Amino acid sequence: MSATDSLREDHKQIRRLEKIIIKCYKDLYDGKNIPFEDIEKINLIILEFLDSIHYSREEDSYFPCVISYDHLKKEIRSLMVEHEFSRRIAKNISIHLSRWKKGENEREPVARFLKTYSIYLLDHMSKEEQIFEKAESEILSKEEEMEMFEQFRSVVAITTKMHLMIKEIDYLEKCPWFIS
Ligand SMILES: [Fe+2]
Ligand SMILES: [Fe+2]
Repeated sequence: MSATDSLREDHKQIRRLEKIIIKCYKDLYDGKNIPFEDIEKINLIILEFLDSIHYSREEDSYFPCVISYDHLKKEIRSLMVEHEFSRRIAKNISIHLSRWKKGENEREPVARFLKTYSIYLLDHMSKEEQIFEKAESEILSKEEEMEMFEQFRSVVAITTKMHLMIKEIDYLEKCPWFIS
């Protein structure tokens, strides 16, 4: 597999999560009951999978490699700004969740920030996938693609965490509130 394909695979998993987030915020707005631990799981996947695994693959390896060819600089810079934006949304979700856990009624802000996050994801990933296309066909060499992919795979702790996160997505997709 190439580095680009492996990022596309990440996006496939993230799209599964996106569907869960959409169902979750809609149910919250409708006043339906969602087990608190499930919302915490969503938050965990956002922090662990998106923020610490997928973004770091993009920010620490893939984007720098593309930029080193002096290509797509402006586009990539704006994607990085969007990552920062999404980190702020994720932080807000965490803050309101922990207040909710302490007994304050934080249903509305949690629903609102989840909604913002899902809108961000849709827009960000489609822009990014256009960059992947260009980078793959015009910029990156086969060797670089392979090298980066090996680099992604070589960190065992990350691969393990990734599998755990995918299991959490499997779990959430089977929850009665998600199916109903
Ligand atoms: Fe990204
Ligand atoms: Fe991405």
